[in-house]
Amino acid sequence: MNASKTFHVTTFGCQMNEHDSERMKGMLESLGYAEAGAQDGADLILFNTCSIREKADSKFIAYLQQAAALKRRNPGTVIGVGGCWAQSVKEDVFRQFPYVDVAFGPGQVHKLAEFLNSDSLTAQGFFEFEGFTGHLPMKREREFQGWVQISAGCNMKCSYCIVPATRGRQVDRPLDELVAEVRTMVDGGVIEVTLLGQNVNAYGRAVRGGERSSFAALLAELDAIDGLRRIRYTSPHPQDMKEDVVLAHAQLDSVCPHMHLPLQAGSSRVLKEMRRTYSRERFLDRVALIREHNPDIALTTDIIVGFPGETEADFQETLEVCEEVGFDGAFTFIYSPRRETEAAEFTDRFVSHEVAVDRMERLVEVVQRRAGERAQRFIGRTLDVLVEGYSRTDPSRLRGRSAHGKVVNFTGLAQPGEIVPVEITSATSQTLAGEMSLLARALA
Ligand code: SAH
Ligand code: SF4
Ligand code: F3S
Repeated sequence: MNASKTFHVTTFGCQMNEHDSERMKGMLESLGYAEAGAQDGADLILFNTCSIREKADSKFIAYLQQAAALKRRNPGTVIGVGGCWAQSVKEDVFRQFPYVDVAFGPGQVHKLAEFLNSDSLTAQGFFEFEGFTGHLPMKREREFQGWVQISAGCNMKCSYCIVPATRGRQVDRPLDELVAEVRTMVDGGVIEVTLLGQNVNAYGRAVRGGERSSFAALLAELDAIDGLRRIRYTSPHPQDMKEDVVLAHAQLDSVCPHMHLPLQAGSSRVLKEMRRTYSRERFLDRVALIREHNPDIALTTDIIVGFPGETEADFQETLEVCEEVGFDGAFTFIYSPRRETEAAEFTDRFVSHEVAVDRMERLVEVVQRRAGERAQRFIGRTLDVLVEGYSRTDPSRLRGRSAHGKVVNFTGLAQPGEIVPVEITSATSQTLAGEMSLLARALA
């Protein structure tokens, strides 16, 4: 038994990694390990890494060096590195950082148990792509919200992106298995699920050991589960955004009025170089279709500036699309060359850092202004807010999220996990503020 052993996990990167970390934690607890509050003193120090941009790499390496210092003081400490960075460097991790004991890719979380139960003291690496491997126990951060990984990997070939190399080809989980999993979660108190995948609306074509299906069919089956109040998902790809998914938003009560639809760039020429498989016109056409059926839906996006060869005129097109669409929010990134990706070879066309920073600032200005304008539509309305806890800036107020995905800070009395009516009194690009509506609550 490992009853007295402790672990500490540091997670970098996207929700997929957050979710994988929940599985690492669940698995370790089932092996008898207990979670430690800090790295210092933990028997097992784990990192779940990201490699999406260079900054992610350098941030992680700084953390790893701190862990190495702890291990020098306490040589029995085991250091483990999982996730996308580990997958992208594979065995090289042991050459670069000899104090690492175990390394594993995103699909190999279960191998950590094998390592911990083995007698071998030599460094071990696990980097196969097996698709879905076993069903690991999970430790959920909040009992009323849960993530569901509907597929692993990505079949797209976006020229800037490292993810296909770190997570492999797309593999989808069978529909009935997903429905059963969500039912179990709902029985355990979950009222909101977020479906995770790199290209969720391509779901259903790559089901291993099950029938073909579709993302819209999955949404409909999940919507039918009693007690499940909110369904979210991230990220869909504009290429596969078809009418069936758009209609699911309009017709299924629990599918939230929010869609995160990554644009990446507004210039068709740049989109082509990015291998995004849609043009500016096609993206705008998808937005029109989505809004035709869901006029109030919140649209958020991801945008990259400074992609190799991006001219000022190309960038202007990105600004134009942002003006025209009026996103409710956007994650904006400066292009970062990634090892073994196609665009990293375009070195003769790299955009200087100064130009990229300048474009980023101008982009953020447009995105924020439009998001702020869009948010005004909520003022005076009463929105259902899922309470998550106390406001981060004012602990006398509560914080939650509207179905649109907006953060709402409000006065009132409620418990985390409750959905309460909040009358919105003010709005900025990032957050809404309001008061819990006692009348609406009494009538509910
Ligand atoms: N599968 C998702 C997103 C995965 S990564 C999708 O296709 O939408 C999240 C975001 O990081 C991407 O949407 C993109 O905007 C950004 N990103 C990915 N690779 C990048 C790179 N090399 N440099 C800068 N941003 C990048
Ligand atoms: Fe990367 Fe493109 Fe796949 Fe998204 S769709 S994970 S950006 S390759
Ligand atoms: Fe996510 Fe980073 Fe991997 S964004 S998929 S953890 S490279």
